[in-house]
Amino acid sequence: MSEKEEEIELAKKNAAMRAVEENLKSNTILGVGSGSTIVHAVKRVAEIIREKKWDIKCIPTSFQAYQLIMEHGLNYTTLDRHPIIDLDIDGADEIDQDLNLIKGGGGCLVQEKIIASNSKKVIIVADYRKVSTRLGENWKKGIPIEIIPMAATPILKKIEQMGGRPSLRMARAKMGPVITDNGNFIIDADFGIIEQPKVLNEKLLNIPGVVDTGLFISLTSRVYIGEKRGNIKIIDKNN
Ligand code: 5RP
Repeated sequence: MSEKEEEIELAKKNAAMRAVEENLKSNTILGVGSGSTIVHAVKRVAEIIREKKWDIKCIPTSFQAYQLIMEHGLNYTTLDRHPIIDLDIDGADEIDQDLNLIKGGGGCLVQEKIIASNSKKVIIVADYRKVSTRLGENWKKGIPIEIIPMAATPILKKIEQMGGRPSLRMARAKMGPVITDNGNFIIDADFGIIEQPKVLNEKLLNIPGVVDTGLFISLTSRVYIGEKRGNIKIIDKNN
């Protein structure tokens, strides 16, 4: 790992650990997010449960999160058993000044949004590279959009007509497109800097065949940003 990569990894770890330590309580239904930053959070959750013998039940946001829950021997539950989640901890690809997010870089946006929107408190953990004034400033790969496979071609055309530059996300270790945990495809649509994320989200959701978008509007309660040199910046909604 280069010095820069080590610095980023430490920033992720610091943010994730602090978020868990400050927000986890006993008797909690916990939404477990997806991505590389969350791995650090789950490790800390497992340590706290071992030390304090707390009752924590975890709902995953992806198959990766399910694997993390199993690997660490955590209690697994579902939305059917616990439709109201106390605390959701997740990562993000970009965070704007209003705490709106771009998510789905790891392809898990649909279940992540379901969990976030059914949570009393949504805590986002990220490193310093993820913070922007407006969405689209730092995250240049486009907005991830999960779609029904048979609608791919018309959706690509409609996104172009809206002024976006869409591409179907292709798999790396398999021929053809990425298949999500829900059996769908992902389009990454570059809209440049997004002035009105709520409006754009609504327009995209109106296209038949779009399952959901990686624009997370007004869902975040608080973010923990791991900065360079070990500091952590905490930003609350409406601050
Ligand atoms: C996956 C996500 C992740 O939370 C997001 O990509 C951040 O990942 P990382 O912590 O690896 O930077 O939205 O769909």
